[in-house]
Amino acid sequence: AVKPVTVTVEADKPGPVYDRRIFTQFAEHLGNGIYGGLWVGNDKSIPNTNGFRNDVVAALRNLSVPVIRWPGGCFADEYHWREGIGPKAKRPVKVNTHWGGVTEPNSVGTHEFFELLRQVGAEAYIAGNVGNGTPQEMAEWVEYMTAPAGSLADERARNGHKEPWKVPYFGVGNELWGCGGNMRPEYAADVTRRYATFIKAPAGTRIMKIAAGANVDDYNWTETMMRVAGSQLDALSLHYYVHPAGGWPPRAPAVDFDESGWADALAGALHMEDLIARHTAIMDKYDPQKRVWLAVDEWGAWYAQDPGTHPGFLRQQNTLRDALIASIHLDIFARHADRVKMTAIAQMVNVLQAMILTEGNKMVLTPTYHVFEMYKPYQDATVLPVSIDAPWYAKDKWTMPAVSGSAVRARDGKVHVGLSNLDPNQPHTVTVKFDGLAAQGVSGRILTAPAINSHNSFDAPDVVRPAAFTGARIEGGVLTVDLPAKSVVMLDLQ
Ligand code: AHR
Repeated sequence: AVKPVTVTVEADKPGPVYDRRIFTQFAEHLGNGIYGGLWVGNDKSIPNTNGFRNDVVAALRNLSVPVIRWPGGCFADEYHWREGIGPKAKRPVKVNTHWGGVTEPNSVGTHEFFELLRQVGAEAYIAGNVGNGTPQEMAEWVEYMTAPAGSLADERARNGHKEPWKVPYFGVGNELWGCGGNMRPEYAADVTRRYATFIKAPAGTRIMKIAAGANVDDYNWTETMMRVAGSQLDALSLHYYVHPAGGWPPRAPAVDFDESGWADALAGALHMEDLIARHTAIMDKYDPQKRVWLAVDEWGAWYAQDPGTHPGFLRQQNTLRDALIASIHLDIFARHADRVKMTAIAQMVNVLQAMILTEGNKMVLTPTYHVFEMYKPYQDATVLPVSIDAPWYAKDKWTMPAVSGSAVRARDGKVHVGLSNLDPNQPHTVTVKFDGLAAQGVSGRILTAPAINSHNSFDAPDVVRPAAFTGARIEGGVLTVDLPAKSVVMLDLQ
């Protein structure tokens, strides 16, 4: 007999806030992440508002995207903001040396990015150029965006925007250990101190400074950054991608995988728990008050590019497996919500583990999009501690608990429980006991599909999409859930 799954939700021991900024999105000048995916400019064949496609913006608004990180990524440390302002015809056409060697028209620059934020209803997370830019260039960009008066504010007004914009989050470079300049941690920490000095917010406003953090398990990077530059920072980032089939370079197919590929990827997602715990332990030494956020501002699955797509565009399909990768991460972030206040899945549209795929005027929502939509009540909710006793799911060399989960009390007072069955073959009966909550009823939605690699395409956009869930019931305050194999369920308690 299969061991039952028991879950305890301590509704009487409210934890930290599950910050809405954990649902931040990342949009880089990479492949069709911006051009084609978000921005279509004057292309009248694709309905748009001021150049941004209406279908994609509406889908993003529906997710309540809180923050968008832009313009990179690796692109950020080669980006010169002055090339993206002023009349479009006068903007230089550059080569995107990092991503595919294609031309970068600079049609989307600072003003267009803020127009995107306005349409989506999101806040700005600007990544500055530390790699091949100067502190002066960075300081002037901040001033151009935020100053209420002065010659840069006048220039901004001449370019069409009199009012200063808000820049609540500013990245002091990106991956300084790699594409941001191949720096050693000691050097990067000193450079971060220097550049951060010149990121100045106008009176009455605040700009959080987010330093370029570690690659995966580079704990020495976190240690050095915190020791040397910690006092000048508001957040330190962490980048970790799931790379099944043996790491870098990404070689696993996005769709054509078997159960080993499934287990490999989900085990990779679960590894985030250990990474956060260990980076956090280091941060705790230097910052026991937890003032400095750990911002996991790049995460997700990175596979081999889809066959036939442009080299360097990182275009990959998104399957039910990606939905589970997303829910596992979102559950992990709940357990570390006291330190992890911001994360950004990579990336928003058409790149890596995307929310949305487009091709010409067609758009499709991915399984990952649907998980983000199902977890929306988590935004600024209160985390409720959860303990899970589940049997193992094992395949080849990978062994993991079969069920992942988390729970919150949303801002409207309702309790939500997210449960994912990582086992692609075995349904599980889950018993959920609540401490301090007398639940009377339950409803919910489920995301599952016929196959582990089921996915949505332009021709079949609804293969993987949420449906009403009828497999949960409350008796005597105890919730019983028949959790189908390979599924994500979000329950709403009444
Ligand atoms: O998300 C793609 C790339 O991955 C980013 O540009 C970079 O920061 C990371 O290496």
